[in-house]
Amino acid sequence: MATAIAHPNIALVKYWGKRDVDLNLPSTSSISVTLDSFQTQTTVRWDSPRDVAWVDGKPATPADAKKIFKHLDLITPGRPTARVITKSNFPVAAGLASSSSAFAALTIAAADAAGERFSPEELSCLARQGSGSACRSLWGGFVEWRRGLLNDGSDSHGLHLAPRDHWDLRIVVAIIDGGQKKMPSTKGMIHTMETSPMYQAWTLSSDRDVSEARHAIMERDLESLGQAMERSTLKMHATMMTADPPIRYWKSTSVWAMDAVEDLRRQGISAWWTMDAGPNVKILCEAEHAEHIAQRLRVLVDEVLVLKIGEGPQRVPDDEEALARFVVR
Ligand code: DP6
Repeated sequence: MATAIAHPNIALVKYWGKRDVDLNLPSTSSISVTLDSFQTQTTVRWDSPRDVAWVDGKPATPADAKKIFKHLDLITPGRPTARVITKSNFPVAAGLASSSSAFAALTIAAADAAGERFSPEELSCLARQGSGSACRSLWGGFVEWRRGLLNDGSDSHGLHLAPRDHWDLRIVVAIIDGGQKKMPSTKGMIHTMETSPMYQAWTLSSDRDVSEARHAIMERDLESLGQAMERSTLKMHATMMTADPPIRYWKSTSVWAMDAVEDLRRQGISAWWTMDAGPNVKILCEAEHAEHIAQRLRVLVDEVLVLKIGEGPQRVPDDEEALARFVVR
């Protein structure tokens, strides 16, 4: 039995598309920053007469339960039946990268519960097979997920670029809609790969964004990082918007938020927006500007949060009192 906490990450250079769907290998490399404050805590115990999972206090939906136990099978083939209790403290499935913290925490808790010793890279490869972005949540700070070249995917995992204290940035999150996303990422990616005439151009052009972003992180050059991030964001969304039928996660308020950030930039504030598989807008900025940017966005959006850069996953003691509420009778 074991409990792990992992934080979600936000892609600075995006992953959208797979070179191998079964092994969940990406068509492009990507770079992320791990978030502070938002987290998923997951406990795995082999003490249940049958497989049963709770997500945020409720029994898991059949679809979620299927994904969770398939992931346990991958980590410990031939495992005993299990009880899985998982809880996130932020809106799930709204383009806030909830699957990244969910599968990172589940991977670590399951490996620990099974007494398996994996390297961080091996854990990252396992997390990737649950959800691609999860392979980047195995570290804090800044992480690169190399696409990899091998057919078995063993070189497609996260690499730690820099710890959280490398650069005191903030991520301002404008929660435009905390509800479930219109189309899940996996389905959206496959549809984009199959129907967007821009898909190949997107994958071929992404390496430049990755190397510029990596260099900008090392040099603490926010303008270059922001430019690479906005370019990658726009190309990813343009590719999915030109799928047939199109996938559009943006709302009008998302565009207003981007306009507000660009206005601030014209006033000399270095602030850069990004969006993922949902309408929420995340803004990367220096710590000293974060509150000012958040105030400006609060005119447009009810819920605006200022987050710091987070650390890697942690193993924590099981919370016996909380776990007593989730038992199979
Ligand atoms: C837009 O990691 O959720 O957030 O591997 O199919 O589970 P699957 O996809 P997922 O996709 C994340 C897409 C993104 C961009 C990113 O995080 O790089």
